[in-house]
Amino acid sequence: MTNTTVDSRLFEPASLGALRLPNRLVMAPMTRNRASADGVPQPIMATYYAQRAAAGLIVAEASTPNAVGQTYPDITAIHTGAHVAGWRRVTDAVRAEGGRMFLQLQHGGRVGHPDNSGLTPVAPSPIPLPETVHTPTGPQDAVVPREMTLDEIRSTVADFAAAARNAVDAGFEGVEVHAANGYLLHQFLARGTNRRTDAYGGSVARRIRFTVEVVRAVADAIGPERVGVRIAPGLTVNGIDEGDTEEIYPALVAALADLGPAYLHVVFADPDQPLFQEIRKAWPGTLIANPVLGWGKPLPADGGRRQAERLLAAGADLISLGRPFLANPDLVERLRIGAPINQVRDHGLMYTGGSAGYTDYPTLAATAAVDHGQASESAAL
Ligand SMILES: Cc1cc2nc3c(=O)[nH]c(=O)nc-3n(C[C@H](O)[C@H](O)[C@H](O)COP(=O)(O)O)c2cc1C
Repeated sequence: MTNTTVDSRLFEPASLGALRLPNRLVMAPMTRNRASADGVPQPIMATYYAQRAAAGLIVAEASTPNAVGQTYPDITAIHTGAHVAGWRRVTDAVRAEGGRMFLQLQHGGRVGHPDNSGLTPVAPSPIPLPETVHTPTGPQDAVVPREMTLDEIRSTVADFAAAARNAVDAGFEGVEVHAANGYLLHQFLARGTNRRTDAYGGSVARRIRFTVEVVRAVADAIGPERVGVRIAPGLTVNGIDEGDTEEIYPALVAALADLGPAYLHVVFADPDQPLFQEIRKAWPGTLIANPVLGWGKPLPADGGRRQAERLLAAGADLISLGRPFLANPDLVERLRIGAPINQVRDHGLMYTGGSAGYTDYPTLAATAAVDHGQASESAAL
């Protein structure tokens, strides 16, 4: 091992709202489907997140703010007392290890299925996801979602605000509103999924309105310094076709900036993209950038550190990493000393229950102890 400590801004403290972060590495939100069927976080989740408490900030996985927003089986939720109690176990465990957590709030919109939520999914327009949706009986064709009425839009905004209050009651420092990756807010932003002719569809100003209203309501509920927003400009995942990416995001970022949230979180951020640079210039607050590490490929041997440094140099304040944290509970230490990283062992274990591929990734210390034990055994032979 070439374990040399290399100076880097990644390991410098940073502030975020009222929080002091010990380093600039954020664990990106990752759905792991380890909740009960009705969305209650299970005790094993406390172990998983506490193992990763050295992150400057953990953004916990997408959690649904109401029943119809549920995407897949066994994902977490935050709209009942049982959800709050389940999450409280997790935040207590992370705090005991010295960590800090936000919770991501995600409404799936058309990315859902009656077999998962018991309800017909809702969306800006009745356009089905052009893919299958994972259900307890396997992948199934997506159903045609029901177009949201104006009353449903208002009540969904209120559900996000209530979910944010629940998250604070559950011990989170704040919430991240998920406006990325093809879920409900992204469906409103994108021309391909939003064919409305009322105040929430048509022009860019109207398509960003729902997201702005959600963020405003959440900020009013818990304070803007406790709110982040995740966006994915240009991402086509979940059948998204934004149409006018270059107009949507400058307008959205300007409108969000007026609300003063703690951070903006950009997915698959590329410092060479003019839109990334434009967003950086327009955003007055903390910018979290999630670098492109190569989807579907092995993780880079340096755990993403080179891309992280590039994004810091391009103006990002904090760097979020997903799979490197999934496979390396002690990722911060590994990056700090340039130690080798664990690869994701089995992609099939990402979204299944149980401890395999979840809480059993070894730390450097655990690997060293095993190596030492094996060395002692062979010495005794
Ligand atoms: C298992 C898994 C689950 C994910 N779940 C979420 C999620 O709940 N919310 C979200 O915004 N992104 C989710 N993502 C995307 C990650 O936050 C991140 O953007 C992506 O993994 C790219 O970062 P990486 O290359 O560092 O892994 C997920 C990714 C993985 C691998």
